[in-house]
Amino acid sequence: MPITIRRARAADRDAIIAMHVEMSRKAYGHILSEYYFAEVLPVEKDKLWTERFASPVDPERLSIMVADADGMLAGFTSVVFEPSDKWGAYLHHLYVGSDFQRQGLARRLWLAVLDTFPVAFQDAPISLLALEGNMPARALYHRVGGKVEERILAQYPGSPDTPVLRYTWPNPDVLRQMIATQRCL
Ligand SMILES: CC(C)(COP(=O)(O)OP(=O)(O)OC[C@H]1O[C@@H](n2cnc3c(N)ncnc32)[C@H](O)[C@@H]1OP(=O)(O)O)[C@@H](O)C(=O)NCCC(=O)NCCS
Repeated sequence: MPITIRRARAADRDAIIAMHVEMSRKAYGHILSEYYFAEVLPVEKDKLWTERFASPVDPERLSIMVADADGMLAGFTSVVFEPSDKWGAYLHHLYVGSDFQRQGLARRLWLAVLDTFPVAFQDAPISLLALEGNMPARALYHRVGGKVEERILAQYPGSPDTPVLRYTWPNPDVLRQMIATQRCL
């Protein structure tokens, strides 16, 4: 099935929320508490995406890309551009539906979102946070040259302190080149 990568629209909101909630549970279910997945995460994600799509997305502050498989959401990514963030552009989300994984879609989403970086961030560093126990995601970040810059203990409701790793890249070109050299794309 052909998959198109495009900017997200308000009409994508509900599918993004559903995928965010479902895939979080699949990816972190062994790490975070059942209370968090049942009581906190669905409310948190609903609020986040409702707010993000409540008004037109400002491309200088936020970029959201979706993978569209003939009208079905196959994945999404979002990047926050906050000038005061010393780590640069923040890769906030990267989610690919179960049926679409291991086909290079996460890397396609990133290549597309890298092309949307505003001028002020085109030479800035990039970072993301990943749960230390999220091995599939870490394998991907390692494969595309991510460097672990720090280890933080994060608090999630109902869970003990949870280690989180910050991955960084020096700038979008470096990440782009690391992805482009992956021949499976
Ligand atoms: C992490 C995630 C986005 C990867 O998406 P994807 O489309 O499968 O990634 P790609 O196909 O572009 O890259 C796959 C590469 O990542 C690594 N990888 C991905 N899943 C892996 C797994 N389960 N085990 C080992 N390596 C894995 C491998 O290097 C793999 O390459 P290969 O298929 O040639 O072996 C996807 O697994 C996902 O949505 N997970 C749940 C949400 C999540 O954890 N998001 C990240 C939050 S920090």
